[in-house]
Amino acid sequence: MNAEPRPLSVLDLAAMKAAGRRIVMLTCYDAAFARLLEQAGVDVLLVGDSLNQVLAGHETTLSTTLDQMIYHAASVRRGSRRALVFVDLPFLTYQVSIPEAIRNAGRVLQESNAHGVKLEGGSHMAETVQALVERGIPVIGHLGLTPQSVNALGGYRVQGRDNTSADRLLADARALESSGACAIVLELVPAQVAARVTQALAIPTIGIGAGPQCDGQVLVLHDMLGLNEQFAPRFLKHYAKLGESVRSAVRAFATEVREGAYPGKEHSFE
Ligand code: KIV
Repeated sequence: MNAEPRPLSVLDLAAMKAAGRRIVMLTCYDAAFARLLEQAGVDVLLVGDSLNQVLAGHETTLSTTLDQMIYHAASVRRGSRRALVFVDLPFLTYQVSIPEAIRNAGRVLQESNAHGVKLEGGSHMAETVQALVERGIPVIGHLGLTPQSVNALGGYRVQGRDNTSADRLLADARALESSGACAIVLELVPAQVAARVTQALAIPTIGIGAGPQCDGQVLVLHDMLGLNEQFAPRFLKHYAKLGESVRSAVRAFATEVREGAYPGKEHSFE
């Protein structure tokens, strides 16, 4: 009989980096996908605030609420046993004050049973990260293109292209590491800059649009499965065409219903 694999712990992230084992992270918003992703061996399920765009159809992540995140995180946790579950803290739930950040991050862990939170920002968030970590709340940082700052950044564009901003990114990453962050997501940064940050840190970097030298990679699940067909940035690879599969399955159902072919005798009760 196959023994169930041991659930991962936050400590495994640095150990995986030290052992040269790449970390596999995907976004996940519900129990059904959590089960599938875990069966496929995903290490970290990220309940991203991208759910505000992917599931709810908003243009940005800014209007996501803490209650939405907790609802989806609890669903993901119920569907998973081995993977780590990290949850994005939504805009304005951690920037206003450290006590508010502790209260809100604490609610996420208490009410969803998730393992930790992710938050955006570098040196200016270091004190907050330290306060959370000191209270037993694991934190993943997020640098580069930080979607909650899309208005200030002038759009979803590559960050850290010039020397000054690349140096700032490295300084931000070091500040997060010193504050106790257990990993850092690097979004939309040049591959060379991501490689430099990755080499400088003992904690893992997890890239999205940040080249191949990060310690792990993350994608938005619906994007990589081809469920969000109009979204096709350079960094994205489609690993399936589920949009097509869904349309063709639904067309077949509609045809059979209209023709009276479904349900058949075998689907009916005597
Ligand atoms: O919200 C999200 O899905 C994310 C990933 C893009 C890393 O933060």
